[in-house]
Amino acid sequence: MERSKIEMHNITKCYGNTVALNDVSVQFETGKVNAIIGKNGSGKSTLVKILAGVVHPDKGKVMLDGEEVHIEKPTDAFGHGIVTVYQELNLIPYLSVAENILLGRQPKTKYKTLDKKKTIAAAQELLDNISPDIPAEAKVMELAVWQQQVVEIAKAMSYNPKVLILDEPTSSLAQHETEKLFEVIRKLRKKDVAILYISHRLQELSVIADTLTILRDGRHKGTVNMSEVSAAEIVSLMFGKVEIQEGFNKNSFTEEIALELRNLTSEPYFRNVNLKVRKGEVVGIAGMLGAGRSELVRSVFGADAQGKGEIYVYGRKVSRRTPAIMKQKGIGYLPEDRKRDGLILPMSCRENLVMTSLKKICSRGVISKKTERELVQKQVEELAIKLGDVENAVSSLSGGNQQKIVVGNWLNAEPKIIIFDEPTRGIDINAKQQIFNIIQRLGGLGISTIFISSELEELFQVCHRILIMKRGEITGEVFPQEYSVEELYATCMGE
Ligand SMILES: Nc1ncnc2c1ncn2[C@@H]1O[C@H](COP(=O)(O)OP(=O)(O)OP(=O)(O)O)[C@@H](O)[C@H]1O
Ligand SMILES: [Mg+2]
Repeated sequence: MERSKIEMHNITKCYGNTVALNDVSVQFETGKVNAIIGKNGSGKSTLVKILAGVVHPDKGKVMLDGEEVHIEKPTDAFGHGIVTVYQELNLIPYLSVAENILLGRQPKTKYKTLDKKKTIAAAQELLDNISPDIPAEAKVMELAVWQQQVVEIAKAMSYNPKVLILDEPTSSLAQHETEKLFEVIRKLRKKDVAILYISHRLQELSVIADTLTILRDGRHKGTVNMSEVSAAEIVSLMFGKVEIQEGFNKNSFTEEIALELRNLTSEPYFRNVNLKVRKGEVVGIAGMLGAGRSELVRSVFGADAQGKGEIYVYGRKVSRRTPAIMKQKGIGYLPEDRKRDGLILPMSCRENLVMTSLKKICSRGVISKKTERELVQKQVEELAIKLGDVENAVSSLSGGNQQKIVVGNWLNAEPKIIIFDEPTRGIDINAKQQIFNIIQRLGGLGISTIFISSELEELFQVCHRILIMKRGEITGEVFPQEYSVEELYATCMGE
């Protein structure tokens, strides 16, 4: 069987002074999982957006099976069988899963009206191949983030793609869901689809990728067969040099209780949650998706219905919780889905970095430009946020750098207790390390952290103590020094 080839020749793309891609020549083959890797802002998304017809290169050409193709707009890409699932979810929340999957292509009745029944049946058939538990008639906003990701993939597959582009498809999936997704990808690979696969998770690349194409700062650093490189080689191609911190969080913390939850209950999400976080302590919450972790912290922050039970912040009972009240009490909260809750995309990086600290920069209605500039600069430097200009819209940043803006915004608010819900989604290992270092440094300053991550290895690295949450209840507590990551995975997944 002759393999088809997708070739990109001498692609250059600039945004103002930012060179997103610099004379990149790469090729991808059908029947393979072609991974594209590189640190945040290295140009991965830009490269695939060019194939998808969303971004136009300044220079260079694209060839399919030896012939030059002109991809001016997304419909051209579709015409060539190139379909993309983007890094940021793009579903319409108030429409059903089925309507989202078949948007614009819904079956009609003989009266030319939309045929709801057929739409649902057709969508369900697609979903059943991937994740039968997702009901096609449900509204997208009722789904968890990982389920939304699966819906996006089902939608892409409905086009019978020749080239399927997946931009960080697993960043919101738990391990067992990732495995389900990989099964689907392997099926597609056999069907002679070229899969372009962007991911920051090196471990999963060794399972699913056939080749690795490495970008660094907009340049092509090489393409290698997965079976022929070591993890260390990959990391050095991606970063040049990087220092990964080993071991546990050894910072000390005091006995003073910063946050206490007593019998917090909000059916059907979680019940009888008792939890204490000490001053300067980093407490992790491990669990599979759907365990109720996000619902719990959303409720603590007052973002959801507050349910029953009590919350104490430094010994004082909080009688009513709204995000504004909790913020005032010194709680910071980084949500799981940054696009929905964490950022105002059309606004500038500067504005997004000081959203939580307007009080600090504003006195008697006058904004101190100087204070604002200092706050913005501090986070840009400390988190190494890659941006052209702080006045650019946040939407112009790469996915990982957007996440850093969310983190920076909350750090500027100087909370006493900070809740991170999957803060490392889509960020590279270097940036992760920076966030871990910051959490540990904050701990040294007496700031407490609650840290949720589906990548349990991370909890081991950063937390003093890890709570296990299952089906809405805290079922156990472990200390990183006394437990292994494998054991924790098994405990979280087991019955
Ligand atoms: N619309 C835009 N306007 C201005 N700059 C942009 C735009 N899109 C991307 N860039 C810049 O181009 C560079 C490459 O971005 P890209 O999104 O391709 O990175 P990435 O490798 O996908 O990163 P990540 O891992 O964080 O998703 C970044 O510096 C980014 O800020
Ligand atoms: Mg990206």
